[in-house]
Amino acid sequence: MSLGGNKQIQLHDFKPGLEQFYADVLDGLRKQQKELPCKYFYDDKGSRLYEQICNLDEYYIPYTEVTIMETNIEEMAKLLGPEALLIEYGSGSSTKTRILLDHLYRLTAYIPVDISHEQLLRVTERLTLDYPGLDVFPVCADFTGNFELPTVNHTFKRRVVYFPGSTIGNLDPVRVKGILENIAAICGQDGGILVGVDLKKDQAVLHSAYNDDQGVTAAFNLNMLERINRELDCDFRLECFEHRAFYNPKEGRVEMHLVSLKDQAVHLNGVTITFTHGESIWTESSYKYNIDEFEQIAVAAGLKVEHVWTDERRWFSVQYLVNDSTAVPSS
Ligand code: AVI
Repeated sequence: MSLGGNKQIQLHDFKPGLEQFYADVLDGLRKQQKELPCKYFYDDKGSRLYEQICNLDEYYIPYTEVTIMETNIEEMAKLLGPEALLIEYGSGSSTKTRILLDHLYRLTAYIPVDISHEQLLRVTERLTLDYPGLDVFPVCADFTGNFELPTVNHTFKRRVVYFPGSTIGNLDPVRVKGILENIAAICGQDGGILVGVDLKKDQAVLHSAYNDDQGVTAAFNLNMLERINRELDCDFRLECFEHRAFYNPKEGRVEMHLVSLKDQAVHLNGVTITFTHGESIWTESSYKYNIDEFEQIAVAAGLKVEHVWTDERRWFSVQYLVNDSTAVPSS
């Protein structure tokens, strides 16, 4: 893709293909508790709906995280240090990233990694125009899977992985440990991970955050079925499913489901999937942590929590993790 100026956007594409999408959907719908991987929310429509969620009053995460970033950015910039190579996992609209781009000293390059192809191109184009001195190397990938980071022809002192928005909360704690280990290997001894971690709080706050009055979260959830109909050969009737989100205190997570409103059959590329009235498809988990709980996972991944910033209500945290050279690897 070519921009108005003379910069070319070179997208490194590791996006899961249609075959993988079909295999994951079929596999998920054949389980006892039917489920669909939440990474498939983010087609172009889903990404736009998620941006709308991020502007809702009830959805406290984005504005709380921005406040934490803006309040503490000088301290963060000092800790992250000059001449970093910034890599972002789940970059989405890269809104919060701009706070880092505006304040990090002598940033050499930025690598946004995201599964939404169209949004990634849109955002890269905008950033390249707004930050003409910055080289942006977009990578379209599922960051929980295999992908390679592009080679960057810049000298840099350290790699910093930015993982905002509590996207890490969409992975179960065992996978969090695994992904932190992978990122720690990318960052090496001199780098670090700046991660947004959502905290446990009043259940009523969580309930309204995932059950907003305008029904945007419901539309976001149902778009998963619409996407499956659009991209795979499938006939979900959206009016026969309903959004449901609730906090599961035992597991410390908000669960989103799509509940079948009647006994029904759905056909996916010639395969019949039956639903009983009230049966659900589990589409997302959003884990909420205490500071100590998250630290335990970080430590198990061989990391040290260097700093934790929170808001006044202690609803959200931004944490800087670094490799702990004294750590003994745990299995
Ligand atoms: C992207 N992720 C952190 C969001 C969350 O809160 O788990 C996705 C989301 N689901 C419903 N609302 C927002």
